Amino acid sequence: MTVPIAIIGTGIAGLSAAQALQAAGHSIHLFDKSRGSGGRMSSKRSDAGALDMGAQYFTARDRRFAAAVQQWQAEGHVAEWKPLLYNYHGGALSLSPDEQVRWVGAPRMSAITRAMLGEMPVTFSCRITEVFRGEQHWNLLDADGQSHGPFSHVVIAIPAPQATTLLADAPKLASVVAGVKMEPTWAVALAFDTPLDTPLEGCFVQDSAIDWLARNRSKPGRDSQMDTWILHATSAWSRQHVDMAKEDVIDHLHGAFAELMNCAMPAPAFTLAHRWLYARPAGGREVGALSDADLGLYVCGDWCLSGRVEGAWLSGQEAARRLLEHLK
Ligand code: FAD
Ligand code: NAI
Repeated sequence: MTVPIAIIGTGIAGLSAAQALQAAGHSIHLFDKSRGSGGRMSSKRSDAGALDMGAQYFTARDRRFAAAVQQWQAEGHVAEWKPLLYNYHGGALSLSPDEQVRWVGAPRMSAITRAMLGEMPVTFSCRITEVFRGEQHWNLLDADGQSHGPFSHVVIAIPAPQATTLLADAPKLASVVAGVKMEPTWAVALAFDTPLDTPLEGCFVQDSAIDWLARNRSKPGRDSQMDTWILHATSAWSRQHVDMAKEDVIDHLHGAFAELMNCAMPAPAFTLAHRWLYARPAGGREVGALSDADLGLYVCGDWCLSGRVEGAWLSGQEAARRLLEHLK
């Protein structure tokens, strides 16, 4: 019997590693604490339709990632989003068009990771709390006290602060990962029965509690009856208000939205807030992935590269490359 490789995390980094390892002929098993895949690229189903509460769009600058995106596009899982972009600066909104190609999952952001997952073996609603080595192989313990294994190798593809706690058997890796700080982001969705009277579809915001806002419904394939908007607070505001009650966060960001939009703002028919505790890495890091090949432990995620979707995918590829290299 072949001993599979465990992959913790079904965000795009974990799935990128899983695809590369499976393509090389290895058997894998994925674990995620959530009920579905996607992590920070997941979408929330709601009364106002599916909402992209995390990643809003992504760019592809690396040749290998661009090739993967092209394939997803051919398969119908991604589409180009061409928002009418604005910038808000010094108290004024101005058009801010550019030539950048921006991609989104279609019909929702989570379509990409769902397609990547396909029929791969996965256990959801399973928070891994311990990764420990037996005589020959690795085993995992989950929050319900159940153990999983044996596994030949383990790939940990989760935000750095969460990965640190799983690295007790690899103190050298643990000390590097513990040095990586990640910042929170509060995300709020608002939906209006009557569309707001504005052509704006996406806006980079300065000098506000908000740093980005988007008209969710303007993305390809979204069929919401309501006019749906996503607001993201800045890292600084989110850090300062990390424990604020959701209703208060909604009130505050709705107020900031009303202040910066140049149009009448009715009361929203639907609201939702989500706190991403580990939204983005605090500083730049270009390590690709981390590994202790002799132990058989690999760590990847967006925080190993650019803190973006592309960086997460590339980091998963790098973890798989290192693992396969060691097996040669
Ligand atoms: P994640 O997506 O975080 O995946 C980790 C997975 O591991 C999760 O599914 C989680 O449930 C699971 N997990 C964690 N701990 C455990 C455990 N102990 N046991 C089991 N499972 C566990 N990027 C862009 O390129 N463009 C954008 O516009 C953009 N906007 C963003 C906006 C917000 C609000 C946020 C939060 C992020 C945004 N990003 C954006 C960043 C992008 O979403 C991330 O870089 C990328 O999705 C990270 O992927 P990942 O696989 O590294 O991690
Ligand atoms: P990108 O090239 O569109 O944007 C990069 C940055 O350039 C933007 O943040 C913005 O400051 C600026 N910019 C780009 N186009 C602009 C325009 N037309 N007008 C004014 N400013 C413009 O995309 P990239 O490099 O792929 O970055 C992804 C986005 O994801 C960034 O906006 C980043 O802030 C966001 N992100 C948000 C996270 C969060 O937690 N809120 C986490 C990780 C990424």
